[in-house]
Amino acid sequence: MSKVIAFAGKGGVGKTTVASLVVRYLGATGKTPILAVDADPNSNLGETMGLQVTSTIGEIRETYMKDPQGIPSGMDKINYLETLVEQALIENRAFDLLVMGRQEGQGCYCMVNNILNKFTDKLTKHYKYLVVDNEAGMEHLSRRTSGRVDLLFLVTDYSLRGLRAVRRINDMLGGLKLDVKNLAIVVTRGPENLSQEFLAEVQEIGLPIAGVIPYDPALLEFDMERRSLLDLPAESPSVLAVDKLMKEYCPTA
Ligand SMILES: Nc1ncnc2c1ncn2[C@@H]1O[C@H](COP(=O)(O)OP(=O)(O)OP(=O)(O)O)[C@@H](O)[C@H]1O
Ligand SMILES: [Mg+2]
Repeated sequence: MSKVIAFAGKGGVGKTTVASLVVRYLGATGKTPILAVDADPNSNLGETMGLQVTSTIGEIRETYMKDPQGIPSGMDKINYLETLVEQALIENRAFDLLVMGRQEGQGCYCMVNNILNKFTDKLTKHYKYLVVDNEAGMEHLSRRTSGRVDLLFLVTDYSLRGLRAVRRINDMLGGLKLDVKNLAIVVTRGPENLSQEFLAEVQEIGLPIAGVIPYDPALLEFDMERRSLLDLPAESPSVLAVDKLMKEYCPTA
């Protein structure tokens, strides 16, 4: 069974960055095959890893719904949708990427969603690791991951506001149909020594801190130059910090 690693947290805190660096770690340490899943409709996980996204599951759904009769001859709707999903899968040397794209709009999408969900579930079974970059809300995570997450990182920047979002997500988890095996906080842009106020809030939430990713100017530089985070030097502070936390949190990885 594949191991599912997912990320959640307030907007802009660094979920996609950490997810990319986790993919990088798994790839660099030979923990393959890996499927990176971009489950954020305003997605950019592919971009941060230098990939050109051509099609998303959302687009496949829309195309099909606009013209349900437009199935090529000799195919039924199931083969047709499955073929489109296979085409949307971006294959890369160390990992593959699947972009979920926009959520469904109005109208009945149940049938097409069922086919797409069943097929993506089947597809994901071929991978040893699934790295799911989630949107800020948690509503869709259970569906995206077949209801099981081995490791959920709640990402926050070094702010009490970010931590409050972590607390809200943590409180929400009980109400979701989601079996989370291991849950921890990741602090981004944090100093070496976290303040007492910050640590007191963490203690109240009651979750461990998996790691602190320091401010890394190379991330901004790579973003501006549209370079893949997979090409960051191995000694970059953000890379070192993610490697360290993965070694600790995913030792059998
Ligand atoms: N440790 C860090 N040091 C410096 N900059 C960082 C760090 N982590 C993230 N950033 C920068 O912060 C910005 C937001 O990061 P990112 O896109 O990973 O956040 P996100 O949580 O995925 O955002 P969204 O909710 O919009 O998807 C990016 O420009 C990224 O380069
Ligand atoms: Mg993101």
